[in-house]
Amino acid sequence: MPRHVAIIMDGNGRWARKRLMPRVAGHSRGVEAVRNTIRSCIDRGIPYLTLFAFSSENWRRPADEVSFLMQLFLRSLQKEIERMHANDIRFRVIGELSRFDAPLVKLIRDAEETTANNTTLVVTIAANYGGRWDILQAVEKMLAAKPGKTSNFSESELAAQLALSYGPEPDLFIRTGGEQRISNFLLWQLAYAELYFTNTLWPDFDDAELAKAIDWYQGRERRFGRTSEQLTEASGKEGAAKSSGNA
Ligand code: IPE
Ligand code: IPE
Ligand code: MG
Repeated sequence: MPRHVAIIMDGNGRWARKRLMPRVAGHSRGVEAVRNTIRSCIDRGIPYLTLFAFSSENWRRPADEVSFLMQLFLRSLQKEIERMHANDIRFRVIGELSRFDAPLVKLIRDAEETTANNTTLVVTIAANYGGRWDILQAVEKMLAAKPGKTSNFSESELAAQLALSYGPEPDLFIRTGGEQRISNFLLWQLAYAELYFTNTLWPDFDDAELAKAIDWYQGRERRFGRTSEQLTEASGKEGAAKSSGNA
């Protein structure tokens, strides 16, 4: 099972347009897909789920769509936070929150605080998030932490300052809606994720769709730079150690 699933929830607008409805109707339906996906992750024992809800580039959309999305975020959070807490979900938001209205920021911070000690599933929403912004703010924090130091920084020092530093890197990346691009999502952390693309539009994404992605993921050989032979050899040794009781 992947420990961390990260999803670009794309295709809401097209889902609505196909039904001759306004684009924003697709966003509303998308919230249901979020709820179902959270449930599926809990049922499958996946401990980290990260969802791209609004990119730093999405401010370029028509003003009424942006404000609808902000309202939807606020209302959904108000409605769902108690249920998330009751289900032992820890809620986090990553992204540049300074551009959001004060009441929304307060709601987010309160929700994070309320759910801080929950452990069954960590749900992270990426909102006004961009991978490049994240790397840049991490570099600045890393430098500020070591005044005067200008060289010999390690990858782990930088990774520790990334917005998602509290979780493991995603094992499985999913993008719905048919596009095959990263759109400035978790640039640093996707270095070794398995990338799964589906034409299914986000409002149609459900447990069966997640199951397909996980099946595909489980068929991948994750080599991390090694050869296939090395991996076979290592798992052979591990198996032998286990069966002789030395594991
Ligand atoms: C994803 O769906 C949701 C957000 C980016 C907020 P889109 O709104 O991008 O839907 P399409 O890609 O236009 O169909
Ligand atoms: C990516 O979707 C961002 C989110 C899903 C929040 P977009 O629909 O904005 O991506 P592009 O513009 O097609 O790359
Ligand atoms: Mg889109």
